[in-house]
Amino acid sequence: MDRGAGIDVTRLPTHVACVMDGNGRWAQARGLPRTEGHTAGEEALIDTVEGAAEIGLQWLTVYAFSTENWRRPPSEVRFLMGFNESLLVRRSHELHEQNVRIRFVGRPDARIPRRVRARIDEAVELTAANTGLTFTVAFNYGGRAEIVDAAAGLVRSGVPADEVDEAALVKHLYDAEMPEVDLMIRTSGENRLSNFLLWQMAYSELVFTDTLWPDFRRRDLFDAICIYQARDRRFGGLNR
Ligand code: IPE
Ligand code: IPE
Ligand code: MG
Repeated sequence: MDRGAGIDVTRLPTHVACVMDGNGRWAQARGLPRTEGHTAGEEALIDTVEGAAEIGLQWLTVYAFSTENWRRPPSEVRFLMGFNESLLVRRSHELHEQNVRIRFVGRPDARIPRRVRARIDEAVELTAANTGLTFTVAFNYGGRAEIVDAAAGLVRSGVPADEVDEAALVKHLYDAEMPEVDLMIRTSGENRLSNFLLWQMAYSELVFTDTLWPDFRRRDLFDAICIYQARDRRFGGLNR
């Protein structure tokens, strides 16, 4: 087993976020339907989650379905809904055994089939008391939608305008406990955020890799953490 050689485990990022991209291209390169790429992405996901837990990472968030992904053909959307459901059914118990706490962030939406919502609730409930890695799935997630929903929550709570500050807004994000993202990894050679965790990524280090998501493994996560650890984070100040 790969123990993350090269990583300084005393300086791990608290929160790593991953845009799992390139499934369709992975499949197309093999003459397969795009959906086969999503299926192949499951092994990448499980290996990455296990690798994160193995090195003692506290928070890992993955982008599974964006608020813009409804623009895809209905057949692919339907596949992704069913795939995420079956993944939860097949994998949540083994993640539970590894002390992983599963959470979801995203906008509730009537287009998400009821049975998918039920599996999400079950997985979250099953693992709620776990104390290891917090593994968050961004599902029907959009960074702008999250900020808009938080603003609406603030207004609804009746906070006076002169008491609105960053801390007040954070309380209304989908998961108020989610720490800011230290490291964002995007696969497949695309160098963009695609509306992922906009609030939480204000000062993230970004690592882009050409590897397509189905080929991604824990070693790639560890390599990205090594790159992160060589970066100089200044947060607008000066490091001397
Ligand atoms: C990422 O792979 C998975 C989702 C967006 C759900 P894509 O399906 O975007 O694959 P490419 O980018 O078309 O290759
Ligand atoms: C981002 O990937 C969303 C997910 C990985 C779920 P996309 O493939 O949807 O992003 P764009 O369209 O290339 O920006
Ligand atoms: Mg894509």
